[in-house]
Amino acid sequence: MLNGRRVLLIIGGGIAAYKSLELIRALQKRGASVVPVMTRAASEFVTPLSASALSGHKVYQDLFDLTDEAEMGHIELSRSADLIIVAPATGDLMAKMALGMASDLATTLLLATDTPVMIAPAMNVRMWEHAATQRNLETLRRDGIYVCGPDEGDMACGEFGFGRMSEPDSIADAAADILLNGPLKGKHIIVTSGPTHEPIDPVRYIANRSSGSQGTAIANALSALGARVSFITGPASAEMPEGCDIIRVETAREMLDAVQVALPCDAAVFAAAVADWRMKDATDRKIKKNAAGDIPVLNFAENPDILATVSQMKKNRPRLIVGFAAETDDVLENATAKRERKQCDWIVANDVSPETGIMGGTENDVTLITENGLIDWPRMSKNAVAQKLAKQMADELK
Ligand code: CTP
Repeated sequence: MLNGRRVLLIIGGGIAAYKSLELIRALQKRGASVVPVMTRAASEFVTPLSASALSGHKVYQDLFDLTDEAEMGHIELSRSADLIIVAPATGDLMAKMALGMASDLATTLLLATDTPVMIAPAMNVRMWEHAATQRNLETLRRDGIYVCGPDEGDMACGEFGFGRMSEPDSIADAAADILLNGPLKGKHIIVTSGPTHEPIDPVRYIANRSSGSQGTAIANALSALGARVSFITGPASAEMPEGCDIIRVETAREMLDAVQVALPCDAAVFAAAVADWRMKDATDRKIKKNAAGDIPVLNFAENPDILATVSQMKKNRPRLIVGFAAETDDVLENATAKRERKQCDWIVANDVSPETGIMGGTENDVTLITENGLIDWPRMSKNAVAQKLAKQMADELK
């Protein structure tokens, strides 16, 4: 049920850290993937090797590990997750979080993130009941941090009371509740993605360089916020998003048909690079060379514009329609004009000139155009663009 959801698990330094290894399993059993981060103190209680072996991921430990920075910066590491769980959340970690400190990798990730965070506190009952801890707890709750536990019971230190970390299954259930009750819960969103292929004859076709990676990232980000996503994709090379209904098509006309079947929806994101033209007279026989050496002439017909068609629908028009404008010249002027011409609500404009490395690459540099004007986003990964867009859509659809 958590298929495709990514959890960043920060393991704090307490005796309950051993239960975090079980938590990795409990989350995986529910379909989530888990990337562990361990504090220095945590590695006194459990070994990074166990966390890595159980999760199947590298364990991140050090803020200043340059290799890690090259692989994935700490901002990216914290934002690529759908949920961050801190378990065990020690008194010390809670205090640092409440103060907004960034003194090691774990606290820096927590300060840098804009994804939901849940803590599972674990400490001695006196520490838990201390006015300072209760004050920190209140601050964290006010900051929007979810809290699971602690439970009452016998403690490793021989005392009895509140302070035992919740059982891994309870923490995993609480995580599932947060992940499945995102702000887009109950919303249906259509995402088109990838290129289309327009046949010339049974063996040849016209295509474009779209990989579909931005569309996949958007579908993942929307479903992580709880949306039901119909993902309508041309023949893309990117991985398919997880937990979405996947509808595969080949041509622009098939894509439009599939969109019409998938309607109604609350919102639609048209990220596909749809071919503007198809062959007017595609043949079902292979075009052969002839003895005279005649060069075939390809006649084109215009494809339907899916974005414009849906944006201009009188009935069933989604409340929020987002289009893309991939341009090489006069990006903002062209994109602004495109938004008005097609009558969509938002346009995500980007420069796809070869020197930007965006087409087929992992990063994107976009400007969001809405009825209120232009918002320039810094260059960031396609995943980060997707998450920012999904959050903005969730705010709009509230
Ligand atoms: N689009 C669509 N159907 C088409 C062509 C484009 O749904 N037949 C959508 C794309 O998914 C994208 C937006 O329209 O969201 C803009 O695509 P783009 O190719 O940039 O615009 P075009 O209308 O093709 O304009 P031009 O090629 O002249 O720039």
